[in-house]
Amino acid sequence: MPTLNDIRSTFLNYFAKQGHEIVPSSPLVPRNDPTLMFTNSGMVQFKNCFTGVENRDYKRATTAQKCVRAGGKHNDLDNVGYTARHHTFFEMLGNFSFGDYFKAEAIPFAWELVTKHFDISPERLYTTVYHTDDEAFELWKKIGVPESRIIRIATSDNFWQMGPTGPCGPCTEIFFDHGEKFWGGPPGSPEEDGDRFIEIWNVVFMQNEQFEDGSMRALDMQSIDTGMGIERVAALLQGTNDNYGTDLMRALIEASADATSSDPDGPGKTHHRVIADHLRSTSFLIADGVMPSNDGRGYVLRRIMRRAMRHAHMLGAKDPVMHRLVPALVRQMGAAYPELHRAQALIEETLKLEETRFKQTLDRGLKLLDDELVGLGEGAKLPGEAAFKLYDTYGFPLDLTQDALRERGREVDTEGFDKSMAEQKAKARAAWSGSGEAADLTLWYDIAEEKGATDFLGYDAETAEGQILALVKDGAAVDKLAEGESGWVVLNQTPFYGESGGQVGDKGWLRRLEDEDDQAEVTDAQKLAGGKLTGHMVTVKSGTFAKGDTVAVEVDHKRRGKIRANHSATHLLHEALRRALGDHVAQRGSLNAPDRLRFDFSHTKALSAAEIAQVETEVNAFIRQNSAVSTRIMTPDDARALGAQALFGEKYGDEVRVVSMGTLSGSGKGSDGQTYSLELCGGTHVAQTGDIGMFALTSESASSAGVRRIEALTGEAAMAALRGRDKALSGIEGLLKVTGEEAVTRVSALLDERRKLENEVAQLRRDLAMAGGAGQGGGAEAREVNGMKFVGQVLSGVSGKDLPPLIDEHKSRLGSGVVLLIADTGDKVAVAAGVTEDLKATVSAVDVVKAAVAALGGKGGGGRPDLAQGGAKDASEAEAAIAAAEAVLAG
Ligand code: ALA
Repeated sequence: MPTLNDIRSTFLNYFAKQGHEIVPSSPLVPRNDPTLMFTNSGMVQFKNCFTGVENRDYKRATTAQKCVRAGGKHNDLDNVGYTARHHTFFEMLGNFSFGDYFKAEAIPFAWELVTKHFDISPERLYTTVYHTDDEAFELWKKIGVPESRIIRIATSDNFWQMGPTGPCGPCTEIFFDHGEKFWGGPPGSPEEDGDRFIEIWNVVFMQNEQFEDGSMRALDMQSIDTGMGIERVAALLQGTNDNYGTDLMRALIEASADATSSDPDGPGKTHHRVIADHLRSTSFLIADGVMPSNDGRGYVLRRIMRRAMRHAHMLGAKDPVMHRLVPALVRQMGAAYPELHRAQALIEETLKLEETRFKQTLDRGLKLLDDELVGLGEGAKLPGEAAFKLYDTYGFPLDLTQDALRERGREVDTEGFDKSMAEQKAKARAAWSGSGEAADLTLWYDIAEEKGATDFLGYDAETAEGQILALVKDGAAVDKLAEGESGWVVLNQTPFYGESGGQVGDKGWLRRLEDEDDQAEVTDAQKLAGGKLTGHMVTVKSGTFAKGDTVAVEVDHKRRGKIRANHSATHLLHEALRRALGDHVAQRGSLNAPDRLRFDFSHTKALSAAEIAQVETEVNAFIRQNSAVSTRIMTPDDARALGAQALFGEKYGDEVRVVSMGTLSGSGKGSDGQTYSLELCGGTHVAQTGDIGMFALTSESASSAGVRRIEALTGEAAMAALRGRDKALSGIEGLLKVTGEEAVTRVSALLDERRKLENEVAQLRRDLAMAGGAGQGGGAEAREVNGMKFVGQVLSGVSGKDLPPLIDEHKSRLGSGVVLLIADTGDKVAVAAGVTEDLKATVSAVDVVKAAVAALGGKGGGGRPDLAQGGAKDASEAEAAIAAAEAVLAG
């Protein structure tokens, strides 16, 4: 009996032999289709190959594609667990031709694989064709299918469309008859929904493209897209009618039974089936980067997780169960999908966290539900208000409440639920519109409420497709932005990082898919409406961008790379500072731009050269370690318990991202105390620390009281800065004709020498002045005024600060007397007067200076009776100043 893994290989190898390239499954979050919540069939990754927009190196491909159908259009969640064939996660096997072969080959390929390689008896097979497709009918006939078992179907069942728009075409399907023991009729009959005739393969003849206005065009080339649900084929090849009876699903069901010590086929059978299915979808979604949240894809994940967790709870599990089943899933599917191995720790931690948290309210919620039911009449619906309370207070998604009621044969008043939800939103809206926010802010909240949050894809993608939900110009919503206009564009999903947490917003481009020549440049990205939306500030370079347009979104890759490097380096710097200076170091602000990083932190004094060197060396050591940077999601409390650095006073949500980098020894990972840097952070980071390149600390200064600021560079910019410094040093070395350390010694010696020379020059000037030498106007000779010796002299070539020592020299030469010196320095005049001790009581130096200054046309002057100083602008009245001083002496 072939296992599910055998069946997958048989399929892929068969088509590889027929010249098909085996292409890996694309991620569950479609990168190339903004209208799809999750990848829901094999053709999603090839959508643009059918329309001719994209060309690949191959024209034939085959895949085993992981698919999720939950939330949105194809929502199977309600039925999962209760039926034989509903899944939230399934694998679709497919073969594809892009303008290569068509019906005449596709039909024989399918028949040969099914009847020869899977050995399914032709007697048990039926086929269907679109009612007008005679060609397909004839091809089946030619292959040997009796006409009675080729059924023409006129409904959309045999015209396949991926959605309201996109490639589409008529299809042919193969059905398997499970035999009389099952109820049901062949396709097209009134009993077709029974379990007897089961569709196993859909072969689509892609030949049209559907547009939003309802029109359809013929595609330039004819292509093939097929889909075979592996679980169904496995069921029939393993002799069962139930997908949950196949080897792979059975292994998961047994793991669930084991973990809950219960019987896999006992009364808890449905619970095990729900758990097995949901384990697959949640694990694969987490591996593809979806995290539980209260919006969009993250909320669908949360709904599935919580549904599984309630079923585990009903099996009597006291402790979290789901994470313990992950190893069984990895054993079953890890070989075909290596991403499960890579993400195993993340999947386990995420499931455990969600289940631990949900368990805290689950019991109380279920009790509330029971209480509500007590008073209800037979068959009455659960009031919407109660369902809303379960949602709002106890974290019960609506479908979880519906699932719980299903076992009791009841429904929820969903209209009432919607009404309560709308009331709560109105209240929230009143709260923020009453909070004095500007009108243009209100506009963003309105958009968020109407359109939902922007899904951020930028942790692992820099390109994607998005749909324009809203456009805003000069604070008002508009329908389009024409060439040359600037405004904000809001998309349903984007890889652009909106500025926050110190990380600047991304720049890049939007291109309209309809016409790639229509381009808009994104000059900034901001988080709006409290972080719910990402706004792209654009200038339209060509064409017109309108609401509803699909655009290719591209982040400026080089710039983002530099921002990542700077942001990751900031984390390493933070930790290095903490280790060098102490635990009091806490982040006070940061900037992560493409060209530099800045980090403000609490610390009271300047860093010493040794501390700076230590920090710079340590950051670079962890860059060279080149260890993987990992991100996990946890509660803020758990994150703090792990020792993660958080911003003091910052409000965090229920869940936070924790970014870890650097290992302290060998193979340490995560919460075992081996991680170097652990920080709560929503930003984007390098994959490996080595991607930072290098780190250079360029300045350390005071930012405000008790806060220091470090500026630094990474990668090429750090290199350029160091090269610049090196060039300057080389210049100095060249001038001094020495190298390295010697240059420092030489410069220091030159500075000493210069100081010495300056002193010598000053002394020489003073000597010259005393000697009354050349250029020193007026005589230094003393004359008698009112019985006192008086020297009045005008000097040039000396400065104001040379005057007091000169006065002292004159005083000691005179023994007793009064001195007035006027130094003309060219642009100003310094005046000083001195009176020897014995005459202080008779004449004050202050009076002498004041009189002289006044005569020079200046103002003021002051000091002590024995030495006073003042200044003026112009020395032309120097003689008058000396005369004025004499007049003071004369009394
Ligand atoms: N795309 C087709 C399907 O999903 C094959 O059924």
